[in-house]
Amino acid sequence: MSQATAVLTPSASVDDISIGISAGDREELSKGLTDILTGTYHLLIKTHVYHWNVVGPMFHSLHVMLEEQYNDLFAAADVIAERIRALGYLAPVNGAAPADGVLDRDAKASSAHDMVDDLINDHENIVRLMRKAAEGAADKGDAVTEDMLVARLTFHEKTLWMLRAIVTN
Ligand SMILES: [Fe+2]
Repeated sequence: MSQATAVLTPSASVDDISIGISAGDREELSKGLTDILTGTYHLLIKTHVYHWNVVGPMFHSLHVMLEEQYNDLFAAADVIAERIRALGYLAPVNGAAPADGVLDRDAKASSAHDMVDDLINDHENIVRLMRKAAEGAADKGDAVTEDMLVARLTFHEKTLWMLRAIVTN
């Protein structure tokens, strides 16, 4: 192997990481974060599709609000993936995109109200995942992952308030 090749080929060893969190705990944390990353990507794509396709009297406020949300979700996906790398595991490349046709069907069939209800459901799902993962991170002494998840929970719970305020009379 040439020296250049050796430099460019990652060893991807997770065994020699000594940051005070066991390999088993890091693996478990990474798996939880992988589910959260997948959920974040699904929500990112759905939010973007709804931003384009929403119609009706709420169009402008929803169009603008959803743009703010998908920008936040896009940045968050990067942060979550990079935390998985810092824990010693590869960020996943499979499973990030929703199944073919699902979003297309949702966008065509949905009123603005239905889109908001659907987003509320998805944000609640990911909030429950994150709360569980944050508790796991705290138990394992991983303050960095816990802190990241607290920030993500803050975003999702604020977003839930805003989405509910739109569809509540
Ligand atoms: Fe746009």
